[in-house]
Amino acid sequence: MNTSRFVNISDLRLAAKRRLPRSVFDYIDGGADGEITLRENVRAFEDVVFRPRCAVETAPADPATIVLGTPISMPIVLAPVGSSRMFWPRGEEAAARAAGAAGTLYCLSTLSGCRLEDVRKATTGPAWFQLYICGGRDVATAGIQRAKQAGYSALVVTIDTAVAGLRERDARNGAKELVSGNLGTMLPFLPQFFARPRWLLDYLRDGGLMKFPNVVLPDGPMPYTDVTAALAAAAVTWHDLRWIRDAWDGPIIVKGVHRGDDARRAVDEGALAVVVSNHGGRQLDGVAATIRVLPEVVAAVGGRAEIMLDGGVRRGADALKAVCLGARAVMIGRAYAYGLGAAGTPGVTRAIEILREDVVRTMKLLGVSSVNELDRSLVEVPTAWTARASIP
Ligand code: GLV
Repeated sequence: MNTSRFVNISDLRLAAKRRLPRSVFDYIDGGADGEITLRENVRAFEDVVFRPRCAVETAPADPATIVLGTPISMPIVLAPVGSSRMFWPRGEEAAARAAGAAGTLYCLSTLSGCRLEDVRKATTGPAWFQLYICGGRDVATAGIQRAKQAGYSALVVTIDTAVAGLRERDARNGAKELVSGNLGTMLPFLPQFFARPRWLLDYLRDGGLMKFPNVVLPDGPMPYTDVTAALAAAAVTWHDLRWIRDAWDGPIIVKGVHRGDDARRAVDEGALAVVVSNHGGRQLDGVAATIRVLPEVVAAVGGRAEIMLDGGVRRGADALKAVCLGARAVMIGRAYAYGLGAAGTPGVTRAIEILREDVVRTMKLLGVSSVNELDRSLVEVPTAWTARASIP
């Protein structure tokens, strides 16, 4: 497929919508409840305005940076996205390959369809492992050991899944019924697959319904469940962070921080980085956009840990706005998942390329040549966003 015709991430989204059955596309595209936070994550970037310096002579813009000691080619890394193998055959490997080729980092979700060892081998770049503790402590510890052995360099612990959010689109599309194993229950939801024969063929060639090979229960890999059931077993508390830290014995990143005091708590518990994240608007609806919370978290952490952000990043300029406000890098989820669903590795490559080109162009237009020069003086944000930033 000639992917150069995709000009922006919205183009990739439409191509994914054309190839994927409704239930798979909506799993990527949808959020919780009324999808207020999902929309607001994207929209709130509009409230950050640039203040470029013009007529300055700069060296060629170089977007390279370093996260947790790891050099990457741009301040954009691939976020954990569950069930990617449903989007494209061996989807996690396909996405990791594209990330590595672009010189950036891939973070693998626990709820993935490819073995973590195979995903690690698929990328020439660095990789992190995102942890859900479904299956309980022993099962999670085994996953952690495998991730360590395979060469994952950091563990990302997601803390915002006390239960799964209500993904209304999934409920309507029969996400639960489709994995019931009962033909009668599944039947009303099957036509969506026949409407997408290209996807169906790929899916069947890839072995049909995936399992979760990185969650190995006493009787084998966890069978595929809809995300509501999987996340119900994935709740993490601060208490868990202690045994996770002992089991992993490497850098820990806490993902799912919405407020300054939680960010401080994560750092006190040993996190070297936190991700300001509302799970892409898929968990608690009605929370603030992540970019809006970023100044509060940056102020609360006060340089004791690195800060990242995900949610709503659809353009390279969004990533740079976050960096100007104090993020080390952003994580992209949907932005690359659309590319994966549309065209596999070339689709992810195109998504990364679009964002990288945006980043380089935006840096030039801002009058900076390196990521280190991106600072608070280059953006203006609504005053309400910084009100909490001064509260200790
Ligand atoms: C999984 O973490 C999801 O949000 O679907």
